[in-house]
Amino acid sequence: MTDVAATHDAIVLGAGAAGMLCAATAGQRGRRVLLVDHADEAGKKILISGGGRCNFTNIDTAPDRYLSANPHFATSPLSRYTPADFIALVERHGIAWHEKTLGQLFCDGSARQIVAMLRDECTAGGVTFALGRPVGEVGHADGLFRVGGATAPALVIATGGPSIPKLGATGLAYDLARRFGLKVVEPRPALVPLTLAGDEALFRALSGVATEVEARAGKGRFREAALFTHRGLSGPAILQISSYWRHGEAIAINFLPDEAADWLVAAKRARPRATLRAALAQRLPDRLAETLAERVALAGELANLPDRALAEVGRRLGGWEFRPNGTEGFAKAEVTIGGIDTAALSSRTMEARRVPGLYAIGEAVDVTGWLGGYNFQWAWASGVAAGLAL
Ligand code: FDA
Repeated sequence: MTDVAATHDAIVLGAGAAGMLCAATAGQRGRRVLLVDHADEAGKKILISGGGRCNFTNIDTAPDRYLSANPHFATSPLSRYTPADFIALVERHGIAWHEKTLGQLFCDGSARQIVAMLRDECTAGGVTFALGRPVGEVGHADGLFRVGGATAPALVIATGGPSIPKLGATGLAYDLARRFGLKVVEPRPALVPLTLAGDEALFRALSGVATEVEARAGKGRFREAALFTHRGLSGPAILQISSYWRHGEAIAINFLPDEAADWLVAAKRARPRATLRAALAQRLPDRLAETLAERVALAGELANLPDRALAEVGRRLGGWEFRPNGTEGFAKAEVTIGGIDTAALSSRTMEARRVPGLYAIGEAVDVTGWLGGYNFQWAWASGVAAGLAL
């Protein structure tokens, strides 16, 4: 029900992925929606996502591919708005797409098509855009939220997390949440490169070398490429594992995920005159083989090395421990882990239980997906859940 004094039925803060689909959904249900963003262009993160092609969903979306203090929270929104729903929308707009790998769907053309699609959907819902405007004070009195000169009985926090400030990301969502008495689970950078220092800094000399690994940290285990950088470790396997890593902990890298621990013993029988470095170089990039062989410090021909020592090296290469000294921070993080505590929200509507009319969606909320289209799927699903409730 709309209060007579309200200028709108809902004010959505943040014209990103979640905010735009939420606004369009509510607008197409007849709600008068104002969509506010301090950026002068909507959907800036969408534009640069997926290398400019937007990895807009993942067909393997499932709740266990999301991290949250409450792992069950995402189940309801994700099951009510699925990758198939978003694919249907994309196809209605004539956007061609393809699966790249691991269920990841990308536009054939450009991420601009996704932003244009969302804008068209907003236009179809009569959504009013207020771009290039700072949000300023948010008032709340007599059941109405006030932003600038606009008032509405519903306010949706869709301003995302603080990752990549130079794209306009801020912590506004957390400030607003705290102001309305909602808890915030400590935000930290995720899907982010890890940095190496001290004894491990020598691996930085391998900058540019990539290889397929299995990376492990906490409950996370990912088989994808890892990349050495001038600051430490990156590549999809490392970005994935960064979400599970905590300061002070080690990550384990299996450099030879297809080999049994005793493969070097077999290599010794096959090529007794080879050095360890040469044996490693048969399966790994040359420079990496050299560095690992130096670290293991087993000199001479395989024939002269005891089987036991070779089996031990095989085991070490299967779970090489790195102790990152940090991450490259919010400046380089694709997403933020943590955020508005889901305990305060309804998983059906995304509305705050104790503050009627206040909603939070998208990355602002403590739900973070794996790399590969999962985060956009969360933005769409949570946005639609709120849009249907406004
Ligand atoms: P989003 O960040 O999209 O939108 C928030 C909006 O709020 C922005 O428009 C911002 O300007 C506005 N805002 C912020 N503070 C404000 C303030 N103080 N006042 C007013 N407005 C404010 N995910 C994925 O699934 N597939 C992919 O391919 C990629 N690729 C990718 C690449 C890169 C480089 C990054 C940084 C991130 C990705 N992601 C991704 C993650 C994905 O971009 C992210 O999860 C979603 O954009 C989150 O959607 P939201 O709408 O919640 O926030």
